[in-house]
Amino acid sequence: MKYTELNDFPADFLWGASTSAYQVEGGWDADGKGKSVIDTRDHFPEGTTDYTVASDHYHHMESDVELFAQLGLKAYRFSIAWTRIQPDGTGEVNRAGVDFYHRLIDALNSRGIEPIVTMYHFDLPAALDEEGGWGNRATADAFVEYARILFREYGSKVKYWLTINEQNMMILHGEAVGNTGKSGATGKKGLYQQNHHMFLAQARAMTLCHEMLPEAKIGPAPNIVAIYAASSAPEDAIAADDWDAVRNLLYLDLAVRGTYHPLAWGYLVERNLQPEIADGDMEILAAGKPDFIAMNYYATQTVGASSGDASDLAARKGDQQIVRGEIGLYKAVKNPNLQTNAFGWEIDPVGCRTTLRRIWDRYRLPLIITENGIGAFEEPGEDGLIHDDYRIDYYRRHIEQLQLAITDGVDVMGYSPWSAIDLISTHSGAAKRYGFIHVNRTDSDLRDLKRTPKDSFGWYRKVIDSNGADLS
Ligand code: BG6
Repeated sequence: MKYTELNDFPADFLWGASTSAYQVEGGWDADGKGKSVIDTRDHFPEGTTDYTVASDHYHHMESDVELFAQLGLKAYRFSIAWTRIQPDGTGEVNRAGVDFYHRLIDALNSRGIEPIVTMYHFDLPAALDEEGGWGNRATADAFVEYARILFREYGSKVKYWLTINEQNMMILHGEAVGNTGKSGATGKKGLYQQNHHMFLAQARAMTLCHEMLPEAKIGPAPNIVAIYAASSAPEDAIAADDWDAVRNLLYLDLAVRGTYHPLAWGYLVERNLQPEIADGDMEILAAGKPDFIAMNYYATQTVGASSGDASDLAARKGDQQIVRGEIGLYKAVKNPNLQTNAFGWEIDPVGCRTTLRRIWDRYRLPLIITENGIGAFEEPGEDGLIHDDYRIDYYRRHIEQLQLAITDGVDVMGYSPWSAIDLISTHSGAAKRYGFIHVNRTDSDLRDLKRTPKDSFGWYRKVIDSNGADLS
């Protein structure tokens, strides 16, 4: 629908920016931190860095937060490294690690920046991984113990909590996000058992949060994108629904309704991938209720009917945004209406509105975009600056669609793009940059790690100052 007048962004709209611990912090073994599966990972794409130093935010935290304040952020979404809090993922608490996040949260709060805390972003403690990781039900118990520590320590200072970042991508593209680790069986059946245990952990953490912190709000943070049918052929519509169920709704239905989406369950049974569900599990899942849905949105996906043979599979590697197809389920189709970024990811601002509308329609819970952004190769020009007009254009077009979604009646409570500052990509190293702030390092050379605001920094500051009214 086209409108003659658009609704304003709500006065308390959370204009944010996001990072995750292992991608930004560095200090991988500092002050008693234990190893996570990211630290024990031994496969890195050729030429890309590991995460030992990253953007060294661990040692630049105060000045980074000062820059976030200059950016005008109303919110900052970051993740806590479980292994700083509990080096072995269970048992002993590492006071120095706990204190680091106290200092970070205090620094944010003192500048009026709302902390939005992701409890777990791909970096499972290696010690738990060695015990079978998410394949082992005990990891769900460990997560709840860890959640209790976080709520006890930070509950009086943090209102917004995100449970697990992109659980769906850990299951569907564990390889791409570097996360299959040594954790249990990595065959598909094993992955769906891990998935089930993560849902239990999430539901129990949500219930615990409501018990311990009645004022706090908690929600899941999957990667959600609208799925388009490649054509008006009815069979393409079926394929789009099927892939939507397996990629998106499986994760949202369990988080919100505590039930397995019927199409997704049918898919699991048909392929003999269904997890073992113990007595009482469905009650635990039903009891965990989110207050909002956080979602990472990058671009829609387009699919057609499966041919039932290898021709369903595109000749490319899949990742969070690039679909490959799955024999008997759907065929990946390139959307001829969309352009791609330098890494082959499609760009679809209108799809952001569509995604928000669909999720609001189905769940009627407040929504927040906790990731959205454009990865690019960037080197400072002769003036030493990054002129990222393509990023400004990308954000402008997405924010326009957010406002349209709000005018459509969707309850959007915030927008927290990826990323606040340059960090290490999940599988493309330091060369794929997302930040409003440039960090002077490359994959092979740590240089001086100096921070320099990019052009998008001043632009986003203006957007925030005007509460989304000035996108020029
Ligand atoms: C999301 C993750 O999948 O996408 C982030 O939550 C990640 O951790 C982001 O960095 C962008 O992906 P990539 O692969 O370009 O770093």
